Amino acid sequence: MAEKKVALVTGVSSGIGRAIASLLSERGFRVFGTMRKPSEADRWPGNVGPIRLDVRDEESVRSSLRAVLDQAGRIDALVNNAATRWLGLWKRPASKKPGSFSRRISLASCA
Ligand SMILES: NC(=O)c1ccc[n+]([C@@H]2O[C@H](COP(=O)([O-])OP(=O)(O)OC[C@H]3O[C@@H](n4cnc5c(N)ncnc54)[C@H](OP(=O)(O)O)[C@@H]3O)[C@@H](O)[C@H]2O)c1
Repeated sequence: MAEKKVALVTGVSSGIGRAIASLLSERGFRVFGTMRKPSEADRWPGNVGPIRLDVRDEESVRSSLRAVLDQAGRIDALVNNAATRWLGLWKRPASKKPGSFSRRISLASCA
């Protein structure tokens, strides 16, 4: 049997991320999903491997990627969905410098 493709979906505790994680799982992906409090297990969509991530914390970004790579060895698809809302209206990412968001995508793409 062919090995499953590995997907990492950030922000799976609700909304769009949760729906995408469930869909990818149904479509045969091995799915890892993130939230800030993975101990809240009742909020996980089925068949999704729990990973802790707070996008405002660079070390958390790195350790979440390490956790997936340790368990699965690779990431075939990244859905970088977790809220990174700007301008003080929403939640801020780890760095306010332009490019920090794309650096996170690059980290996962190159892993
Ligand atoms: N819904 C819309 O109409 C719409 C329109 C344009 C863009 N978007 C974008 O689409 C994405 C999903 O939207 P949604 O409506 O599905 O949002 P949502 O229901 O609020 O879900 C956001 C997800 O991001 C996670 N999250 C929040 N803050 C985080 C942080 N600091 N670090 C890591 N994870 C964090 C939340 O998990 P925890 O809080 O459990 O950690 C949750 O799983 C967002 O990035 C949003 O900006 C949405």
